[in-house]
This record gives sequence, C-alpha cells and structure tokens, in this order.
Amino acid sequence: MQTEPKMWKRYLMWFAHEHIDFRHAEMQSIISLLNIPVRYVEKPCVQKPYCIVEMPSEDCVRKIASRSVLLKNCIELWARAKTVSQLHVNLKNSLKNSTGSWVAGEKDNNGISNTCLCPKELIESSCPLKKSFKIEVETFCKHYSMKEKVSKIETFSYLPFEGPVKLKNPDVTLLYLEFYGVDPNDVPEEPYDVFFGKWIADGQRDLIQVHSLKKRQFIGNTSMDAQLAIIMANQAQVKLGDMVLDPFVGSGSLLVAAAHFGAYVWGSDIDYMMLHARTRPTRVGQKIRTKEESIRGNMRQYGTESRYLDVVVSDFSLHNWRSDLKFDAIITDPPYGVREPTEKIGIERENYTLSEEHMANHVPSKVEYGLHHIYSDLLNFAATHLEMGRRLVCWYPLVREEYQESQLPSHPCLKLVANSEQVLSKLAARRLLTYEKILDDVPNMPLDPNAGVHNFREKYFTMGETTRRERKEKRAEEVAAYLARKLETTRYDLT
Ligand SMILES: C[S@@+](CC[C@H](N)C(=O)[O-])C[C@H]1O[C@@H](n2cnc3c(N)ncnc32)[C@H](O)[C@@H]1O
Repeated sequence: MQTEPKMWKRYLMWFAHEHIDFRHAEMQSIISLLNIPVRYVEKPCVQKPYCIVEMPSEDCVRKIASRSVLLKNCIELWARAKTVSQLHVNLKNSLKNSTGSWVAGEKDNNGISNTCLCPKELIESSCPLKKSFKIEVETFCKHYSMKEKVSKIETFSYLPFEGPVKLKNPDVTLLYLEFYGVDPNDVPEEPYDVFFGKWIADGQRDLIQVHSLKKRQFIGNTSMDAQLAIIMANQAQVKLGDMVLDPFVGSGSLLVAAAHFGAYVWGSDIDYMMLHARTRPTRVGQKIRTKEESIRGNMRQYGTESRYLDVVVSDFSLHNWRSDLKFDAIITDPPYGVREPTEKIGIERENYTLSEEHMANHVPSKVEYGLHHIYSDLLNFAATHLEMGRRLVCWYPLVREEYQESQLPSHPCLKLVANSEQVLSKLAARRLLTYEKILDDVPNMPLDPNAGVHNFREKYFTMGETTRRERKEKRAEEVAAYLARKLETTRYDLT
C-alpha cells in the first residue's frame, strides 16, 4: 500500500480569467469554510491566472475544487521555469531531487522563484509500470494547433512512464502549462512562465453551463448570472443543512446556488407578480409564461426541490420574520433603481388613515425606498437575524470615480471580510460585499449619515443622460460638418 509523504505538497492552482477581483475572496472563503491549512507560495493576483500553494494532502485540493467556480484546475507541481528549455532542465533535476522536499531556485525582482523542483519520489510514485497516462497541453493567451501540441508533448519522452498512453480516463493525467501574459494584443514569442505537474482536480466550471440562465425554466429581467450566484454562495460559506434567506429574491437565482450546496432556502420580495411568475416573459419571442415557470420549478429542474422552503410576498422595510429567527446566511441583490424600482410601502400624505370599509380591498401605495435606507435596513436585519460568525453577501452599486471604501455601509456587529468589484460600464460598477457577524445584541443602528453620499440611482441616470446628450450633440456636429464639406465639393464641381 502506498503511503502519502508527510511533507506538505506544492500545488499550482489555475484560474479562469474571469471575475479576477473575486478570485482571492472566493478561494479564502472556501479555505476558511472547509478549514483547510494553506500556505501561499505565490498569492493570486490580477496579472496572472494562477497561484502556488502548499497543502498537506491531495484531499485538501479536491475539497477546494469541489466548491470553487473560478478555479479551472489544480496540479501537483513537479517543475516550474521561466523558459521552456529551463523547464526541461528542472524537470530532469526533479527526477534526481532526493532531498524529500520542493527546491526553489533563485528569486526574481518580485521575490518569485523562477525554478521549482519537486521531490523525485512524487514523480516515481505516479510512474509504476502498469499505470496508464496522458499528457495535456494548456496555453494561456496563445493558441496552438493539435499538431503543435503533440510535438510539445513529445518533448517529455524522457519521463520514466512505462505504462500505456490512454486518452480517456487514464490513471495519471499530466499537465503542461504555458503562460503568455494577459494582453491578447501583446503576446510574446516565448511564454513568461511554464509549469508541469500531475493533474489533481478540476474546479466547478461545468456548473456554469448546468445552471446557465439560458436553460433555466424561470428567469426574470434581473436574474443573477449563474457563475456570480455560485460565487456569492461560496462567499457566504453556504453548507449542507444551512438555512439561507434572500430578502430581495426576484426569480430566485441566488436560492438555486445556495440549494446546490445543500442549504434550505427562503426568499421574500415585494413583487407579487414576480413571485407568482406572472411578469412578462423575459425571453425574446415568448408571449406568455408557461405553467412550469416558477421558483419551485427551477428547484425541481436542478433536483433541489426538497431544499426549497418557500417565498413570501413581503416588503423588506416592514418584514415579518420573528425577531428571534436566525439564518445561517443572507445572500441578496437589492434593487438599484435602474432596471427595477426601489419602492417600499408607504404614503407621502401626512396623517393618512384608512377607513374600515376600504380595508379589505386596499392596495397599499408605495414610496421611494432610497438605497441608503435599503442598506441600512439590510445591515440591521443581518446584525439581528444572522447566526454568530455567519455571513451576509450583497451587491452594492456605485459610481466608479466616487468610490471610497470608507463610505461602504457598515455596522458594528458586521465585519467587512471581502469586497470585489464588477465593472458594469465606464461609469458604474457594483461591489460584492461580504460581511461576517462578529457581535451580537447591538441595537438597531440609525441611518449612517455618510451612506446617502452614494446616491447611485440619481447619479447613474444624470451621468448616463449627459453622455447620451453629448453623443447626440457630437453626432449632430459630425453630420453638419459632413454636409458642409459635401456642399463645398459640389460648389467646387459646379465651378
Ligand atoms: C435585483 S432584483 C433581485 C433579482 C434576483 N437576485 C434574481 O436573481 O432574480 C431586486 C428585487 O428586489 C425586489 N424589491 C424591490 N423593493 C423591495 C422591497 N421594498 N422589499 C422586498 N423586495 C423588494 C424587486 O421586486 C426585485 O425583484
């Protein structure tokens, strides 16, 4: 029987080049949720789609990969170099490395080791006679034909693998990775970084297709993209048996992601028509909603109906949850007032009373629910209704040039543990804020006086309108200039 070496192993974690600002936050949330000991050799950063870590076992890698949607794959690192020829030298040296541990070479100006040799026992343990294997080539920012990939694979013929090559389900998959930078307009001849190692696990990229909104039964205008919903559930550290709430649930996309990780899910929303799937269909060409379209229908579609508790029509500003009820996580995307109104029940008129006879058929009027009121209510609610140590994950819209971390919503019971930006346009962005409950029993906080500074809706529309007006004026000027030129030419032709 093979025993695992006692040393910590070194792994290369390779990410998708998407939602870059969320990589570290998602990874850290998963690591702390699963209580996995990790040492960073190279941290994830914006310029590179990878990080290098040390962990005690392959099992730790598999656990992280079973959750992360931003992780593409992870390999046990056998060799790393800054050039292809150096990689082969390093890999051959790894085959002779009997120190029993990873050997890092000289460091570059950024303090990063440009070589890396693994202990030879690791390679040998993957090479017994009968083990089938294959080598795969992955390149970042450069495309190679199959023929070119095969010739790269052949350069590894010195590896002591004697078992048969098997392309489908081999015992061992080896991965050769070349990194050509992140700028598709400036791709170098030779890669900046090259890696070789044993494939351990793939992340959850497939889930993006499985949960894709394109194939989902019931969607609305503001349904959350599948990948971002999964990232939110990861950052909220949702786990089996948790009870999770989305108080602005809409079409329930965040419930889908939370239920996928085993949570029991609740939702509430002010929009009766949305919760009853009676809003106008979102899909182009669809005239009426089908009977199958509902949040419950979505849960059924993904096999998580047993996790669905229910949704209630309710105004969050006047919510009706019991004061002692606790949730394990709150994940939500409140309205920004751009694609849907920000409203709550109320009336502008003072001293308004409703007569008894109108009570039964009364449809309450609504007033503006300002963003700062929404976030103040949300943080106060989380401070009361979250279990200790658990998380609120919510989006926060803002005008990019005015962003200041100090003006994000805050509450003494909640610690901001992650804050990642998704750029929406040149002007606007939204940030995914992750708060952890660190204190109990703090009374409702009054409205933060700073919070109103981010009056996103007004600024979004004002700036948007200015830009549109400017574009229109510019176009009119261009047309006028064109006509003037044309007139000039015609006059010249006539003379
Ligand atoms: C951005 S959408 C949420 C979309 C949702 N995440 C989804 O995937 O469909 C915001 C939701 O907040 C709801 N909403 C607006 N004002 C509300 C209020 N006062 N109380 C509760 N829900 C409200 C809207 O009806 C809308 O469905």
